[in-house]
Amino acid sequence: MSSIIQSAITDTTVTSSHHLPTVARSDFPSNFVWGCSTSSFQIEGGADLDGRVPSIWDSFCQQAGKIRDGSNALVACDHYHRWPEDLDIAKQLGMNAYRFSIAWPRIITEIGGAPNQRGLDFYSRLVDGMLERGLQPWATLYHWDLPQYLQDIGGWENRATIDAYLAYADAVTRRLGDRVKNWITHNEPWCTAMHGNWDGMHAPGQKNFKAALQVAHHVMVSHGLAVPMIRANVTDAHVGIALSLHPLRAASQSEEDQEAMQRHDGLRNRWFLDPLFGRGYPLDIQAHCAEFLPEIRLGDLDAIATPVDFLGVNYYFPETIAAAAENPPLHTRLRELAGRERTGFGWEVAPDGMRELLYRITQDYPAVPIYLTENGSSYDDQLEADGSVNDSQRRDYFIRHLDALKRARQQGVDVRGYFAWSLIDNFEWAEGYLRRFGMVYVDFATQARTLKQSGQWFCDFLNRSNK
Ligand code: NOJ
Repeated sequence: MSSIIQSAITDTTVTSSHHLPTVARSDFPSNFVWGCSTSSFQIEGGADLDGRVPSIWDSFCQQAGKIRDGSNALVACDHYHRWPEDLDIAKQLGMNAYRFSIAWPRIITEIGGAPNQRGLDFYSRLVDGMLERGLQPWATLYHWDLPQYLQDIGGWENRATIDAYLAYADAVTRRLGDRVKNWITHNEPWCTAMHGNWDGMHAPGQKNFKAALQVAHHVMVSHGLAVPMIRANVTDAHVGIALSLHPLRAASQSEEDQEAMQRHDGLRNRWFLDPLFGRGYPLDIQAHCAEFLPEIRLGDLDAIATPVDFLGVNYYFPETIAAAAENPPLHTRLRELAGRERTGFGWEVAPDGMRELLYRITQDYPAVPIYLTENGSSYDDQLEADGSVNDSQRRDYFIRHLDALKRARQQGVDVRGYFAWSLIDNFEWAEGYLRRFGMVYVDFATQARTLKQSGQWFCDFLNRSNK
């Protein structure tokens, strides 16, 4: 096995323009889960191999103007062929877990179709590859790549997609459940629903708020119905969902802005957390959005409230909210405060927001183990002539967020694992290849992988202090 890690421990002195906290692996329990996250559409490529059919993202990429650099993910990181190298890298970094997603269009290739064995075989090899390398598999069932044939009949807006999802989840968990114990039903349902169907920034690109709320409801019902099925198929199953959650600030002390922040919170955070924890949809938003509410059938809310084994939290940035005349029905808008530190993507860097968010979840909701299922940053990385990528900003981002995680634990938050987004640079949805989030730089022309300074730091962090 070749190594892209230069030596076990290299850069021990970290210099930075910020005051950097001190954080060590030994600040976390010895059984803490350390991993990185990826998703099928963003890394695999192999778009027409072994029976895979198109997803809504393949279709979206073909529409002019939807992807900022006009690219697609037909090849992406060619992970479909290069997965042994990528898993080697995760292992060399010192990770003990790896979060990946399964491409539904590889598994069920037509409406009501039987499972495609060649698609299942791929993931079976991938999972064996993880286990051989000491990486605990964390599988996400839905990370946005819906088969296009389902969108053709209405996608998640059509209740029939719930049954299609359950058939898909059944096939996957039966085949992999002897080896994969950690299951995430859905990744970021807010994005599936709202980016996909309200602002239209993501596939399928619809702009219809009522449809978006219906999609969100069907996604959450499919989650709730999948939980007992996964438990039936998988001995010792550990099942949860990954939500994208944000700490919020009001743009001012004015009553209008404070109320706007509450409404934004109602849709961004509580619309998903409340029903998951048995409280139904938040009443303030139901009242505010009365004419847009989804059709809810008897038993749906009970299904959504099926207890999970853990909550996955994807944390990137806080949001500052102001009241707005436009943007019905919420009438809120994001305010970009000047002078805030931002990533290359323009996202505010706020490590303490992670601690604040985790603490809020433990205060407001019943106790449940939490895993930080995504956290990371994109910067305009350059591959230097000497082969290095000096992404000290990303390294500092990790140091400061891991410190925030440590402080959350000190405050009593039951967080049991951290997954960095991402292992390798990849296809960043509507941004195409313009946003690099990896600890490993990918040259998309040659597919060469180069460890960045941040990856070297993570490796040192994981290997230096106690295991
Ligand atoms: C959210 C998503 O889960 C992932 O697919 C995306 O690439 C990262 N966060 C960064 O935007």
